[in-house]
Amino acid sequence: MVAVTLNGERQEVAIDPDTPLLWVLREHLGLTGTKFGCGIAACGACTVHVDGNPVRSCITPLSLVEGLSVTTIEGLSSDGQHALQKAWIAEQVPQCGYCQSGQIMQAAALLARNKNPSRDQIVEQMNGNICRCGTYLKIIAAIQRAAREG
Ligand code: FES
Ligand code: FES
Repeated sequence: MVAVTLNGERQEVAIDPDTPLLWVLREHLGLTGTKFGCGIAACGACTVHVDGNPVRSCITPLSLVEGLSVTTIEGLSSDGQHALQKAWIAEQVPQCGYCQSGQIMQAAALLARNKNPSRDQIVEQMNGNICRCGTYLKIIAAIQRAAREG
């Protein structure tokens, strides 16, 4: 048994501790908002928070998060009203959508520690999150809007 706090609720899961967190979330717990892109920490589609820090769940074994707090896109807000979620809609960011939950989780970790990031700080934070649809400028605009409108 591996115990984690998942989206605010303590869970005990009977899964091989070497299993990547991404597959625990998607295949065992039904949380499919977190996406598989590359599997080698190169795209950011699988980003979740572990104790508030953005982490690539595709290369993070379950054992590494034992006793820690994991937040997925499903747990970012109870009603979809996180400032980033509202800004994402206002700026009409997504195209295909595949990368977007990872983008939002990566951005949310920045705003949690810096409520008014500069454009350079935003670009630096988001640099490792790939979007094949090229929504980068809209992502920056949405993060800036979320910072402004809270
Ligand atoms: S699927 Fe994890 S970084 Fe690409
Ligand atoms: S919206 Fe399609 S990959 Fe980013």
